[in-house]
Formats: sequence, C-alpha cells, structure tokens
Amino acid sequence: MAPDALVRLQKVSKVFPGGIVGLDAVDLDIAAGEFLTLLGPSGCGKTTSLRVIAGFESPSSGNVLLEDRDITGLRPFDRPVNTVFQDYALFPHMDVAANVGFGLSLRKISGAEQAKRVGDALDMVGLADKLRARVSELSGGQRQRVALARAIVCEPRVLLLDEPLSALDAHLREQMQVELKRLQSRLGTTFVMVTHDQTEALSISDRIVVMNKGRIEQIAPPATLYDRPATRFVASFIGTMNLLESRFLGRDGERLRFAAGDLPLEAASDSSETPAAGDTRTIGVRPEDLLAAAEAGEGTASARISGVVFHGRTLRLHAELGQGTAIVIDAPRRADGSQFSVGDVAHVSLRRGATCPMLSS
Ligand SMILES: Nc1ncnc2c1ncn2[C@@H]1O[C@H](COP(=O)(O)OP(=O)(O)O)[C@@H](O)[C@H]1O
Ligand SMILES: [Mg+2]
Repeated sequence: MAPDALVRLQKVSKVFPGGIVGLDAVDLDIAAGEFLTLLGPSGCGKTTSLRVIAGFESPSSGNVLLEDRDITGLRPFDRPVNTVFQDYALFPHMDVAANVGFGLSLRKISGAEQAKRVGDALDMVGLADKLRARVSELSGGQRQRVALARAIVCEPRVLLLDEPLSALDAHLREQMQVELKRLQSRLGTTFVMVTHDQTEALSISDRIVVMNKGRIEQIAPPATLYDRPATRFVASFIGTMNLLESRFLGRDGERLRFAAGDLPLEAASDSSETPAAGDTRTIGVRPEDLLAAAEAGEGTASARISGVVFHGRTLRLHAELGQGTAIVIDAPRRADGSQFSVGDVAHVSLRRGATCPMLSS
C-alpha cells in the first residue's frame, strides 16, 4: 500500500442476486486528504463502490482496508465514514439544527457540545443564520449545504458523496463545485465523490477513477486523463476525441509517427509497446489539436466540411477525410469573418508540437 493510503479496496467484487455484476475485482488506493472522484456511465458501479466503503454493502469477495486494518466486516456506524446521499435524505419536518445534529445525538453528544459543533458545521457551509429554519423552507442549494454540514459535523475521516450536486441547476452547480473543493481543502478530509458528469469531475478532483462495467479503466489526475487517456473508453468519455485508425510508420526519437489515411499524426511513446511497421492502432486526436487551412501544404490531408457549429470562441467543423472517416476540428473564428462553409474542402493537419495518445481497446 502507498504510505499515505487511507482506504484500500483489494480485489473487491460484488455480485447481486441474479448474477448482476456490480463490481469486478476492483483494486483502489485512496490517499489521505485527497479529493477522489468516481466517474463513469450509469450502472458502472460507482454507487456500489461507495456503499462498499461505507459498509452498507458487503463485498462478495475481496477486502476493504482502513489504514492497513481490515474493516470488511465492520458495520457502517462503526466506520469513520459519512455519506452525503444523492437525495440528501434530510428530515423535512425537523429544523436545520436538528438535522445537522442528528448524527451527534446518535453518538450521545448533546447540549452545549452539540450546539457548538452544529454551529461550526453550519458556519463552514455558510448557513449559520438558518439554524432554526425548517428544511422544507430551504432552497435546493441550501438543502445541499445542510446535507454537507450533517455529514461533516461528525468529523469523519472519509466523506462519501453520491452525485451530491445532481439536483441543482447548472449555475448553482458550478458555484457549489467551487465551494465543495474549498470545503475539502479547509477540512483536509478525504472526499470520495461520485458523478457521471465529466466536466464536474475534471474541475473538482485531485484524481479521477474512470469506471466501466464494474471495472476501473484508468486512475489519473484530471490533466493526465485528458491528455493521456489510456483506453478508447476513457478517450471517448472525457471531452471530445477523434478516434482514428492509423498505420504505424516509424519512430522519430521519442515520437511515434502514424498516418490516418493521408493525415500524418504523432503519438507519444510513453506506452510500453512499440508497434511494428504497418501495424494499425487507434490514435486519439483532440479537435483543438487539428488545424484546418484553405490551402494544401506539408502534412495536410483534404477533408470535406459537412457541418459548421458555432461554439463561441471557436467553430466546430465536422468534416470527412478522403476515406470517409469523420473528424471533428475546433477552428478559431477568423477576425475577417471568412469561414469554412458546408461543402468546402479544408486542408487538415495536426498542430505542430501536439502529441496524441495511442489507445488500447
Ligand atoms: N441492490 C441491487 N440489486 C441488484 N442489482 C444492483 C443493486 N445495486 C446495484 N445493482 C446493479 O449493479 C450495477 C452497478 O450499479 P451502481 O453501482 O448503482 O451503478 P452507478 O452508481 O455507477 O450508476 C448495475 O447494473 C445495477 O443495476
Ligand atoms: Mg449511482
């Protein structure tokens, strides 16, 4: 185990009645104090992972460790772990103070001590003035904050958050992402958050775990995941990525030269294997790493524009390379207003200095 790993899942599998596989031999180290996000499509095992860590679900096989101690058999209440549920699970008839103090009451902490800790927790989430408000009188964002305060008031070592912002509208959601990250830094508590929203995961996490069908596809910091996705699944799940079947041409020092039809590409050689000449690999190319010019030149391939979509600062060009391969290019809007139109031929090339990930299936 890494020296600072707080929670460790060891070969954790969960098979539900009927043989439905929730988790398939998941190995995961969660570092103390990190903001870790589980990201993946619906049904990939995110919630099951959280429930296994919380102790609401026991693994079919494998172990859960907390600082080297096996806690697989420990009841939820006996773990230093708290959960913020997707629907908040607040008591609508109780006031904010009673909701936030609920876990403390269960632990027989009451009176002045409870009042102080509830006050501190509400301060943390900016709701100190709502102590006596009923939950039913609060807005969605305020309820979200109450749920957070209720979870942090017991000072857990690990805070689990299952799609905590999914009920909020886009604007509030972005604001709460910033607040959540700030809260985590101030507390120094380990946060494990679940989301299916890649933008949210990228903007808030120290590391992201991309899951697919009960397995982990890749674990990496946001920038690494974006720049160096390891698999086709990760590449197509994070941002927009052209997946181009490409022929290997040869090695140029640290760079691997490929061609997707007539389009020359370069891939980083940080992968363990070097292909043989003539081998085919999938190369991931970001739309912003492709240039579209009006004139042909060195290293360009012609492509017919099939769609132009306004994206604000850039235009997203949909185009077709000679072999009928569809590609997407993000082109800056030109100051003089001249643009590509549908039916035009663009001369496409890889931006100088761009290196593309070579993807495994
Ligand atoms: N209690 C359960 N009984 C049967 N199947 C379940 C149960 N909980 C989850 N599953 C199944 O396990 C898989 C993973 O579910 P879940 O962890 O909830 O996914 P996610 O949170 O990523 O959407 C899904 O196929 C889901 O239908
Ligand atoms: Mg879920």
